[in-house]
Amino acid sequence: MEIPVLVAGGAGYIGSHTAKVLRQAGMLPVTVDNLATGNRWAVRFGPFAEGSIANRAFIRDVAREHGVRGAILFAAHAYVGESTEDPAKYYRNNVSGSIEFLDGLLDAGVKSLVFSSSCAIYGIQKEIPIHEDSPKNPLSPYAETKLFLENALGWYGQAYGLRSVCLRYFNAAGADPEGEVGEWHDPETHLIPLTIGAAMGGGALRIFGADYPTPDGTAIRDYIHVTDLADAHVRALRHLLGGGDSASLNCGTGTGHSVKQVVEAVEAVSGRRVPVEYAPRRQGDAPALVADARRIRETLGWEPRYSSIETIAATAWRWRSTFLESRLAEQAARVLRG
Ligand code: UFG
Repeated sequence: MEIPVLVAGGAGYIGSHTAKVLRQAGMLPVTVDNLATGNRWAVRFGPFAEGSIANRAFIRDVAREHGVRGAILFAAHAYVGESTEDPAKYYRNNVSGSIEFLDGLLDAGVKSLVFSSSCAIYGIQKEIPIHEDSPKNPLSPYAETKLFLENALGWYGQAYGLRSVCLRYFNAAGADPEGEVGEWHDPETHLIPLTIGAAMGGGALRIFGADYPTPDGTAIRDYIHVTDLADAHVRALRHLLGGGDSASLNCGTGTGHSVKQVVEAVEAVSGRRVPVEYAPRRQGDAPALVADARRIRETLGWEPRYSSIETIAATAWRWRSTFLESRLAEQAARVLRG
C-alpha cells in the first residue's frame, strides 16, 4: 500500500521530479497545483487536484480524500528580481497562502511537512561554505518570505505539533536522467537553461560579472542535481513519518562551480560553442554561495549521486533539446494543419 503524500506545487520543476522519486520509493504523490507557473504535462506520477494552497478547505478536503500522511510545500513564487518589484505578490502567496495551507493540513490531521526553503535566506556571507547556523541576511522579499515560513514552522511545531524539515536549496539544476520531466520556466532566468539556449543558437549568454573575487572572476554557485534534491525530500519525509525531529538542512553538494565552468561543461556535453558576452554584475548576486552539507548527510544519510557538473549539464542538455524539438514539431504540425 503506497503512502499518500500531498505535493503542493507538484507541477513545477523540483515538485515534478520529487513526485517521480516519491513514486519510485513506494509513496503516492497527490499533486496540488494552480498551474500559475506549473505545467500540466509535468504531473505524471499520481493524482492531480487543481487549486490553490491559499484555499484552506480545498487543502483539507484533498488531504482527507486521499488519506494523506505527509506533505511537501513547493508551491511558491520564486523570482528574486520580481519579488523586489512586486513584494505584495510574494507576501500574499508565499506567506499568506502558505499559512492557509498549513492550517488546511492541520485541519486534516497532517503533521509532517517538508518545506522548500532557499540558500537565499543567508544573503551575502563572509564565511564560505555556509553552515546552517551562519547568520541569516535575506536580501529580497522572496528570501524574506522563505525565512518567515521557516520561523512560522518553528512555532507551529511547538504549538500544534506540526513537525517539519526545511530544505535550504542551493542551485537546483539538471533534469530527470530518464528524460520524463525537466526544467521549464517562463520566463527563464537560470544559468544552465539559458546557457543551453545559447548553445542551441538562441543568442549570446550574458555573463553577469567577470570581476568577482573568484579564481576566474565569475560567480560561484553550488549546483545540485534536481534528482538528488528530490531524493532529499523523500528521505526527509521518511524521517518525519518515522517520528524524527524537525530540522533545517542545507541541500547542496559542498562544491562550487563558476559561471565559466558551467559554460565549459555545457560546451563539452553538447559539442557546441556557447557565445557569451559580458555584462555588469546582477544586483543582489553574491560572489560565492556554497553549502556546508554535513548536516543533511548526517541527519538523512543523503548523498548526491547525479550532481557532478557534467551529469547536470548532460541531463539538462538532453531534456531541453528533446523538449524544444518536440515543441517545434508540434508547432509545425499546427501550421501545416492550417
Ligand atoms: N548568471 C549569468 N547569466 C545569466 C543567468 C545567471 O551570469 O543569464 C549567473 C548569475 O549571476 C549567478 C549564476 O549565474 O552568478 C547563477 O544564477 P541563477 O539565476 O541560475 O541562480 P541564482 O544563484 O541567482 O538563484 C538561485 C535560485 C533562487 C535562489 C537563489 C539564492 O534560482 O531561487 O539561488 O541565491 F533564491
